[in-house]
Amino acid sequence: MLTQDELKTQVGQAALAYVVPGELVGVGTGSTVNKFIDALASMRTQIKGAVSSSEASTQRLKALGIAVFDANAVGELSVYIDGADEVDHHGHMIKGGGAALTREKIVAAQSCRFVCIADESKLVQTLGKFPVPVEVIPMAVQRLVRQFALQGGIATVRMKGDAPLLTDNGQQILDVSGLQITDALAFETEVNQWPGVVTVGVFAHQRAQVCLLGTSSGVKTLNF
Ligand code: A5P
Repeated sequence: MLTQDELKTQVGQAALAYVVPGELVGVGTGSTVNKFIDALASMRTQIKGAVSSSEASTQRLKALGIAVFDANAVGELSVYIDGADEVDHHGHMIKGGGAALTREKIVAAQSCRFVCIADESKLVQTLGKFPVPVEVIPMAVQRLVRQFALQGGIATVRMKGDAPLLTDNGQQILDVSGLQITDALAFETEVNQWPGVVTVGVFAHQRAQVCLLGTSSGVKTLNF
């Protein structure tokens, strides 16, 4: 029986097969992506570099000698590799457990293909057991808490110590529990247009095309 950490290592390494030599790769954020970044070091001389979705991933990439490019300085990327908090059988995901959802969605949107890497515990029938992270403008927090309550959601401000956690963009995160997201596309579209929402952590418009799922019997590839 492999540990969750070993499953993450397994899919991080398997994702190398999707990296296109000679090109840039979009890189997500989180503990699974950290395994991918570590594996990517072995391809350092074969790629141009990376576009990163967070300060944390940027630091890790640079420490391993992988060049990091600004998203504005490059065009479309062939592939974006990232983890997920939940993924369903359509390639729709909940993301943002690491608070990097906005930049993740930006780099995903700039990429032709999203390859999700996750251990098998992340595969679900219906999204919503994992509280949905939403990056918000601080002055809208209490109004958005009430708006989620009307949908049956309980939204709480993510804290770091005694103060609200601030994202790389200087905004706050609401974690919304109690939702059952049966129509991920409609949910993402609706919440995204609420005033004060920067990004909702449902990735349906930027869904995964491939998911590499770490299981105790090896890496399972799901194509959506
Ligand atoms: C980061 O903001 C997230 O979207 C991550 O991709 C997600 O939380 C998965 O993280 P782990 O790989 O650490 O589980």
